[in-house]
Amino acid sequence: MRTTVRIDKLLSSHGFGTRKDVRKMLHSGVVKVDNATVTLPDILVDPQSQVIEVDGEKIEVRNHVYIMMNKCQDVVCSTKDGLHKTVFDLLDDKYQKRLPGGELHMIGRLDIDTEGLLLLTTDGKLTHKLISPKNHIPKTYYVELQYSVTDTEQEKYTVLFKEGLPVSKENNEEAFVAQSASLVWNDNKSCNLTIHEGKYHQVKRMFKAVGNEVTFLKRISIGSLKLDPELSEGAYRELSEQEIALLSD
Ligand code: URA
Repeated sequence: MRTTVRIDKLLSSHGFGTRKDVRKMLHSGVVKVDNATVTLPDILVDPQSQVIEVDGEKIEVRNHVYIMMNKCQDVVCSTKDGLHKTVFDLLDDKYQKRLPGGELHMIGRLDIDTEGLLLLTTDGKLTHKLISPKNHIPKTYYVELQYSVTDTEQEKYTVLFKEGLPVSKENNEEAFVAQSASLVWNDNKSCNLTIHEGKYHQVKRMFKAVGNEVTFLKRISIGSLKLDPELSEGAYRELSEQEIALLSD
């Protein structure tokens, strides 16, 4: 399959700065496509079949797509759902067709009523790295609770979560002991919880285990990658080169 992309977009997504930086670079005559100097930003190139050089160095073109979405409520993390919109329905047509890097899929899932950082990619290796329980990738959630928690109780929650909390069975999911998790309180009804695993309804079940109830849940980071506060609910964008590096390190 031939897929073309604007040269300024390609270079910008491969670590050569903003579109403006790339335009300057093109203007200075250091970019070649199949040995011919290219100076215009809107030239279309096919990275699969053409050789692109910057300052005499061939660039390694990445095929994969990496998307950060600020998932909104009432949208499900699944490919099909008879009742609700899926996160894939929120994506532009260009992501609905087969992509050169492979199938676009979610890295983990969020519940229908959970908001925040959801990653989608064609890069199966990255997915494996981020979801493998062996890697203990931290995920931080902003949590609002139904019942107010006093200072003393807050300390209790924090210690229990740190020590590893027994969590009850839910639906068909087995009971488990949650791995050590860290809790930072914002006030007596909200906190940030960092966990290193991703069991079914994990955060909600952990708070249930201490006698509380989650009323609002939003994932705000995965590893070193933070949700972009500029993304409105349901909006998404491709990751920058730096952000991809943060996840791959
Ligand atoms: N924990 C939950 O309970 N729900 C989510 O969506 C994510 C983590």
